[in-house]
Amino acid sequence: MTKRVAIFVSGGGSNMRALVEDMTGDHAGRPCLVLSNNADAGGIAWAQGQGIATEVVDHRPFGKDRPAFEAALSAALEAHAPDIICLAGFMRKLTEGFTDAWAGRMINIHPSLLPKYRGLHTHARALEAGDTEHGCTVHEVTAALDDGPILGQARIPVLPGDTAESLAERVLVQEHRLYPAVLRRFAAGEREPVLLTG
Ligand code: GAR
Repeated sequence: MTKRVAIFVSGGGSNMRALVEDMTGDHAGRPCLVLSNNADAGGIAWAQGQGIATEVVDHRPFGKDRPAFEAALSAALEAHAPDIICLAGFMRKLTEGFTDAWAGRMINIHPSLLPKYRGLHTHARALEAGDTEHGCTVHEVTAALDDGPILGQARIPVLPGDTAESLAERVLVQEHRLYPAVLRRFAAGEREPVLLTG
């Protein structure tokens, strides 16, 4: 049976586009919604242009009340009845209430080789540490930030002269390979990690 996939974005949504563009043919998933906490997110306009349903739930009126923001997210999701949520550059932390409700059905992409560098500034941190390789990870979302079972990783070498910007650019290319490959398998019920090298 086709899986309905909701994708959450906060910004440009290049990963969201890669996921949507892959959901054709024998892919078990189809996009049912692109949701953002930011009405100006480039991804929202692109999704509308593709005829995909969109929702905006601005986090700002909720201040520090994350459960109230998440209740609004859940209300926005209801009409679209997703089976799977993909976080694709969604820059809001989610609490246990929401992550537990979606346990095993919500995945995220993070720009580091987890468990290294949870949180922000992952590329600069990899450089500062003198790492010789870097990359990205897709994982199931749990209450702990950038944690949860790993479903795939893509590795690239860190090159002499790399900056945080050049690394971010090369990792993003790998994100666009990895995330669709993982979602394809995840939607089909497979959990074996996808391992790529760039
Ligand atoms: C991506 O690099 C993604 O891995 C990162 O934000 C970027 C979003 O780009 N996500 C995180 O840092 C989450 N912790 P996109 O909007 O073009 O997909």
